[in-house]
Amino acid sequence: MSLIESGLFKPQLLIDGIWSAAADGSVFAVENPATGEVIARVADATPADAGRAIMAATRAQIAWAETSVLERSRLLRKWFDLVMLNQDALAKILTIEQGKPLAEARSEIAYGASYIEWFAEEARRIYGDVIAPPENSTRILVIKQPVGVVATITPWNFPNAMLARKLAPALAAGCAVVAKPAAETPLSALALGQLALDAGIPAGLINILPSTHAKEIGEAFTSNEQVRKISFTGSTAVGKQLITQCAPDVKRVSLELGGNAPFVVFDDADLDAAVEGAIASKFRNAGQTCVCANRFYIQQSIYDTFCEKLISAMKGFSIGNGLDNGITIGPLISNRAQQKVQALLDDAISRGAKIACQAMQDDSWQAGHFFPPTLLVNVPTDARLTCEEIFGPVAPMIPFETEAQVVQFANASEYGLAAYLFTRDAKRIKRLSDQLQTGMLGINTGLISNAMAPFGGIKQSGWGREGSRYGLDDYVNVKYLCESFS
Ligand code: SIN
Repeated sequence: MSLIESGLFKPQLLIDGIWSAAADGSVFAVENPATGEVIARVADATPADAGRAIMAATRAQIAWAETSVLERSRLLRKWFDLVMLNQDALAKILTIEQGKPLAEARSEIAYGASYIEWFAEEARRIYGDVIAPPENSTRILVIKQPVGVVATITPWNFPNAMLARKLAPALAAGCAVVAKPAAETPLSALALGQLALDAGIPAGLINILPSTHAKEIGEAFTSNEQVRKISFTGSTAVGKQLITQCAPDVKRVSLELGGNAPFVVFDDADLDAAVEGAIASKFRNAGQTCVCANRFYIQQSIYDTFCEKLISAMKGFSIGNGLDNGITIGPLISNRAQQKVQALLDDAISRGAKIACQAMQDDSWQAGHFFPPTLLVNVPTDARLTCEEIFGPVAPMIPFETEAQVVQFANASEYGLAAYLFTRDAKRIKRLSDQLQTGMLGINTGLISNAMAPFGGIKQSGWGREGSRYGLDDYVNVKYLCESFS
């Protein structure tokens, strides 16, 4: 079945349950980053479209807040079932617009769906509280209510999962959503919207506005009083801008921002497990994840052995068009992304770092935005790539001597999203779990993301948590009721 026949290839805006063109009729091209081919011309939402979507969401949210949690749960479950039923078509859409290998795209669809499934269940567990009052003639009750209309802004690296993990808790809590997916990857979001309609999720609860006018749409969201919350996944710079824009009417803000994960391996670690963790953490999505290992700190006595083992594992990569069989690493999202990673690599080399392993370039990469997986040794601690997010398949190796030294290295960052620790020493695990400044810590694993766990960061990596039972907190207001019986 072709993507068109699947009914999920929707290059339009979704507003109030209706697929429509942009107010000014404009469209923009979406390209396959592996080939440079234009795969769709998508309606380019304007601020007027955002206004229309917010009105629809406002209407729909009032009715949705009145539905029982059981009804919300059933509809979310149905949506989850449809997403999984259409996993292959959704994965193909994801691969052609984002570039990741088809197998990874299938995993992302299941990962995104797992948030829908999780929040279908959590919808039934929006608990309040009864609190002991100061005197017996009163009773203190706490109830949770939906925050209202939520605007989401999501990135291109996980175009399905990052949206699903905002839409699902929002709907579970009784909110409606206006969503702006990244202009590079709008089709995965739009396909999710179609499946939500197919599942019977009422019109107006999910509105999707692909657009190249990111700043203007962001302003249309933040300046509209009906929007009571912004949930954003993306860069720290944009996150800070959104905080400022949300200040005038004190909107709630959830932010999942940049990361700079340290990956620490001690000499008592299971090195094979550490290499497996490094491959998963560093090279998933060609290094384009916020939780990617960004800096490898390897204890001096095992530094050479670890690098050799990692290089040998990297030789197993197969780089190319994600639709082709056996491909394990796809392209970067754009030419700009390629240039940024190259600039960070050049900077490290100019400061003394050496390339110990780099995949051979291939002619078939010409039309796409491929970047060869690279392992760098002798990386000085002042190289830009130790403090900036690389967002590409470059692994910088830095030796360390002592635990105290590596804690200092790891915490010397304005970010605090994820960190990884490999050691067999239980006491050290306890000490570093306490000392590492991070929202998430992978201990003897390079894969930490799942719907049951609270995903999020500290410091300049953001506010709030996505997934887990904490994930609903961002979409509800706590209301205290004081009952008097005197
Ligand atoms: C991200 O890169 O922001 C998300 C990655 C994940 O959910 O594992």
